[in-house]
Amino acid sequence: MQTFQGYKDGSKVPVESYNRQDWQRGYESLKQEFEYWIDDVEGEIPQELQGTVFRNGPGLLDRNGQRVQHPFDGDGMISAIAFQNGRAYFRNRYVRTQGFVEEEKAGKFLYRGVFGTQKPGGWLANAFDFKLKNIANTNIIYWGGKLLALWEAAEPHRLDPHTLETVRIDYLNGVLHPGEAFSAHPRIEKDRLINFQIKPGLSTTITIYELDRSGKLVDRHAHSVPGFAFIHDFVITPNYCIFFQNPVTYNPLPYILGWQGAGECVHFNPGHPTRIIVIPRHPVSGDSKGREKKAVQILEAESGFVFHHANAFEQENKIYIDSICYESLPTLDPGADYRQTDFEALSPGQLWRFELNLENQTVRRQMLETRCCEFPSVHPANVGQPYRFLYLGAASAAQGNAPLQAILKIDLSSGERQLWSAAPKGFVSEPIFVPRANATLEDDGWLLSLVYDSARHRSDAIVLDARDLNKGPVARLHLQHHVPYGLHGSFTPQFFGPANV
Ligand SMILES: [Fe+2]
Repeated sequence: MQTFQGYKDGSKVPVESYNRQDWQRGYESLKQEFEYWIDDVEGEIPQELQGTVFRNGPGLLDRNGQRVQHPFDGDGMISAIAFQNGRAYFRNRYVRTQGFVEEEKAGKFLYRGVFGTQKPGGWLANAFDFKLKNIANTNIIYWGGKLLALWEAAEPHRLDPHTLETVRIDYLNGVLHPGEAFSAHPRIEKDRLINFQIKPGLSTTITIYELDRSGKLVDRHAHSVPGFAFIHDFVITPNYCIFFQNPVTYNPLPYILGWQGAGECVHFNPGHPTRIIVIPRHPVSGDSKGREKKAVQILEAESGFVFHHANAFEQENKIYIDSICYESLPTLDPGADYRQTDFEALSPGQLWRFELNLENQTVRRQMLETRCCEFPSVHPANVGQPYRFLYLGAASAAQGNAPLQAILKIDLSSGERQLWSAAPKGFVSEPIFVPRANATLEDDGWLLSLVYDSARHRSDAIVLDARDLNKGPVARLHLQHHVPYGLHGSFTPQFFGPANV
């Protein structure tokens, strides 16, 4: 397999490790739903790998000849791979959201997408239509005995973990009310799930929820912060929830008039600081209700845009946050085809470490990794804690901006890197770290990812030994079809394959 590194001599033009047409085909819809034992396996599935990896992502990217304007507008499709005794079972199902069911029946788009997909009929058909399609396409978790498909602007959908059939919208035993959102980026700290809801406006309300293993609400608090906020992810430490308020403004007029999606009306303000919102998780006692809320603190950092954080931790009176940061919000021109994205014209996501000093309210930042990267993953026991190993999807070339074709492991203590690349024909998805049972080393486990193999227009589920990426996948499970590029997923040690194995 050929890989490419760096720039052509003197040209400053990045050598492409991929072919655009190859990359584009990973955005073809997968309209069929499958279930089967995966028989075509290279290598060996580790016997100790027991459980189910669930993944979510936009599976339907066109209807009736009309393509979505942006993949984030594609209806959520769940893939599940259940591992047991060295075998693996695949399933995929669309989340039967109300909008999906209605549009299946109609055979065309009936809802506008947040990221610019319009109903047929031009702007007149779209103006003043603010109906939201909860497309349930971003993440999936198994928590409190429920499998939940998440989308940040609305409620979760509950699915049957054995069949992936949609049960209904789930209000988390009354935690949510109709119309309330539950972000797609919960953080799990031992036996707690911590998540948030954003209500943006001239000022923004951030509501934080903490649920125990049974799904019961154990803490909930809401905070108002100044200004509009576009926040996709957050991080936690034992004492804080931390949000990055990217420097953006929102002008809804093109959305109201039917010209653009709401998400396209968010504009980056170059040169304006990123505000870091630090919210205490545990208010201390003292007020009339026996709870004194420690103040929310807002610190300023240099300008940048963050979708995803890797992790955060507290150490020696400072808070450290590792995040994938862009110079600006990567956007498309209105009406442009996302499959024609000029990667070289956009700034890459790069890994930065932010150091927060709450005593003097300062932020310092340092770049940890210049290679284009996204979709960070860490050992689940280290969420909110000091940690050593970080795994990411990455570009195959060391410099420039490009699709993710490699899995990168970073040893944050030694600085050592390991890279496994699927270039030039393969395109990777988020790596999910699964610890080996009873392991004592932080990197003793596996990385699970889906790789779109453009040479065969099919996808492979791969299992990498997280201790040694250089040896390549220990198992490569050839699926019978492709899976469109997905977003996020999670692993649960429970086996949700067929009942009688
Ligand atoms: Fe995300």
